[in-house]
Amino acid sequence: MAIERTFSMIKPDATKRNLTGAITKVFEENGLRVVASKRVWMAKRDAEAFYAEHKERPFFGELVEFMCSGPTVVQVLEGENAVLKNREIMGATNPEKADEGTIRKTFALSMGENSVHGSDAPETAAREIAFWFSETEIVG
Ligand code: PPS
Repeated sequence: MAIERTFSMIKPDATKRNLTGAITKVFEENGLRVVASKRVWMAKRDAEAFYAEHKERPFFGELVEFMCSGPTVVQVLEGENAVLKNREIMGATNPEKADEGTIRKTFALSMGENSVHGSDAPETAAREIAFWFSETEIVG
């Protein structure tokens, strides 16, 4: 299996509860390496652009407002099968439906305040990584 990169965000509900280290530890324990990381307070235009694919959804305004409500930690994770592995580690979008032991089952509060975001496919990962990071900021 080739080494792959995925994009991850630790969302404001988690940074506000000081869970950045606890969540990053789960990534590392599952074989993912943090090869880029920075803490950002998202501007509204960045949140709207990042989540543009959801702009017709009824929760779009709520999603953008939440993502701008506090700090987010944007990260690049590297490892074998990183995109799929991170989706498994995160668990389902709805924490009530997430499997035991996943980040969302353990930490998330709701569908919106669900602690983490992870790319859903390698093509999405490439786009999302490029949205937040330049090549020189990623150190493998
Ligand atoms: S997915 O990944 O498309 O299957 O999930 P989806 O349910 O469509 O949700 C997409 C993102 O929108 C967030 N979301 C919400 N935010 C605020 N309020 C409500 N009700 C809500 N429902 C879903 C959800 O956390 C997803 O965020 P990301 O960052 O993509 O995981």
